[in-house]
Amino acid sequence: MSEKISSTRLSSARRPILWGWLRRPWLAVFLFAGVLMALLGASGQGDRDGDKVVAANDTADRESPHPTPADPRSANYNQWRTNEPGEYRRYNQRASLLQRGKGVYAKYCVGCHGANGDGQGPASVRLITKPRDFTKGIYKFRSTDSGSLPLESDLHRTIANGLSRVSMPAFPLMPEQEKVAVIEYIKSFYPDWEKEKNNRKIVSIPTAPQDLDKQERVLRGRIVYLAMQCGKCHGSDGAGTGATQTEYTDAWGNPQKPLNFTRGSLKGGDNPEDIFRTFHTGLRSIMPGYGGVTLAAVNIETFESQKSYLREGELEQLDPYLESFPKTASEVFTQMDESQRQQLVKRNSWDLVAYVLSLQQKFSTAQAVLGQPRSVPRSDLNGETP
Ligand code: HEC
Ligand code: HEC
Repeated sequence: MSEKISSTRLSSARRPILWGWLRRPWLAVFLFAGVLMALLGASGQGDRDGDKVVAANDTADRESPHPTPADPRSANYNQWRTNEPGEYRRYNQRASLLQRGKGVYAKYCVGCHGANGDGQGPASVRLITKPRDFTKGIYKFRSTDSGSLPLESDLHRTIANGLSRVSMPAFPLMPEQEKVAVIEYIKSFYPDWEKEKNNRKIVSIPTAPQDLDKQERVLRGRIVYLAMQCGKCHGSDGAGTGATQTEYTDAWGNPQKPLNFTRGSLKGGDNPEDIFRTFHTGLRSIMPGYGGVTLAAVNIETFESQKSYLREGELEQLDPYLESFPKTASEVFTQMDESQRQQLVKRNSWDLVAYVLSLQQKFSTAQAVLGQPRSVPRSDLNGETP
């Protein structure tokens, strides 16, 4: 009760002051500014209406009624349509994230990946491996199965670590917020991202065992490599020797070089988990994904068919490890239960990783310059790349 009285008293006390203000002469200036702003607002509205017409024509043959973020009109994100209650707020938050991402992209990525995200930035003409065309929604380095979109964390890894062997730089110092924003922005070049993202199937990557430099694992991995015919593209020695497939056109219509494991770092990373991920998920349109069944089915019969690729004396070296493989594929599927097969998939996968890692030659700069490459066992490197 007493509060009410005091508030009434306050408001009546304010009134004379307000009237005093209104009688001041600069009120005219104030009113004039108001009219001017209203006029400007109206003309801005006019522009926007003009834009709407353009947008309507422009998107007539596209699915989405929204301007794409590459479009300069997207700066005006108030026009983004909302369909559900509360969606407006979400849209605006997303739109401002996209705005920030667009700024980051314009600063660091546009020169290669292009203003429209189609990989045709001005620098792309000089690059052998062309920058990614983001408009197709196809990515190489994923933790998802071959047909799926990548996870946001996959894009994050690519941006933070870069891709070895090609021009894609690493941005380890880019603030986290900028990475998140630019990821949202490059996603938006693919119109069906939101629709397809729920179909992503994640390929789980277990933690690597510690003994990958053990001779037994490397030699067993050699058998898996031959039996699975990785050599068809990578060469029987992992350096391209005897590869039958040497020319590719990748998913984006660009020429693609096969990969030599013995030189330099791998694009998707050199950690055992990275290699595991690469052959389990495949590199879309370039290299198939090797799933559990294929990895379990490695057997003596499939290995024998590849014997002609063996180097001299190699068979004797591999012989003791052959007995750890089933004789035929049917043995795997008739005489083993699911858990035994899973064990085999795991063992074969990590042995294959061990073999691929063993192929990487580590040179010191001096050795590379003087042309005396020497293979250094991985265990001597303490994780450093010389
Ligand atoms: C100097 C050129 C260059 C710049 C600058 C550049 N990229 Fe790339 N980027 C590439 C190339 C080339 C590839 C394709 C590599 C390949 O196919 O092996 C690529 C591929 C990618 C991929 C796809 C990886 C996959 O899994 O397929 C992503 C994501 C990417 N870049 C993001 C970015 C972002 C974000 C920026 C800016 C912060 C950026 N890039 C800046 C050259 C560049
Ligand atoms: C149909 C051809 C083909 C077959 C078969 C194939 N690969 Fe590949 N693989 C490629 C090509 C091409 C690349 C290079 C991709 C690139 O540079 O972007 C590659 C790259 C890789 C990479 C490196 C990716 C990176 O991070 O740089 C690994 C690891 C790999 N392959 C493992 C294997 C294994 C293991 C097998 C057998 C189970 C195999 N590949 C079979 C074509 C093939």
